[in-house]
Amino acid sequence: MCARTANASGAGKAGVDGDSFAMRSIGVVHSPYVETAQVPKGSGARHDAVGVLEVFPPFEPGLTDIEGFSHLYVLWVFHRATGFELVGTPPTDTRPHGVFATRSPRRPNPIGLTVVQLLRRDGARLMVRGVDMLDGTPILDIKPYLTSIPAEDLRRGWLGEAERDRAAPPGAGPP
Ligand SMILES: C[S@@+](CC[C@H](N)C(=O)[O-])C[C@H]1O[C@@H](n2cnc3c(N)ncnc32)[C@H](O)[C@@H]1O
Repeated sequence: MCARTANASGAGKAGVDGDSFAMRSIGVVHSPYVETAQVPKGSGARHDAVGVLEVFPPFEPGLTDIEGFSHLYVLWVFHRATGFELVGTPPTDTRPHGVFATRSPRRPNPIGLTVVQLLRRDGARLMVRGVDMLDGTPILDIKPYLTSIPAEDLRRGWLGEAERDRAAPPGAGPP
């Protein structure tokens, strides 16, 4: 894999070598979670933990004007995951599903995606609500959260079915 190349202005071009793409972390997550077991899991789990996204000094100019956005996408690395499983049973269901139909940490490219609420910016530190990453997680990228898809057009696939089954388990009749 090629190393990332950067010019004197700091602008860079991700190294590309066939099917491989070299990336580097632009920052690190400070999270209250140090072990995976501490992160709320499953359907209905609330993610309201507050954490800090610390952006490394060379990348701080990239935060210019971020304060105006209420929510952000954070792309990060499941750096403590090992290997991957193409089909597996997630904690939210009893049936197996393909990895690309789940949010499993054990994926071919161990990239995580979390939407957080931006509470405050303090220089290169963004205080955010909604972290589900472990402390020390490397950050690949941050982008403003924008969506134009109306809620009524969204489908939740197998997860919606699992949530409905959980609300009304088989055999449960009307009250
Ligand atoms: C189900 S994944 C979803 C993560 C993200 N919201 C996504 O959709 O990509 C969340 C789980 O990843 C695990 N996790 C968080 N940070 C991690 C890291 N740096 N390395 C490995 N596993 C991590 C925790 O166990 C957490 O419960």
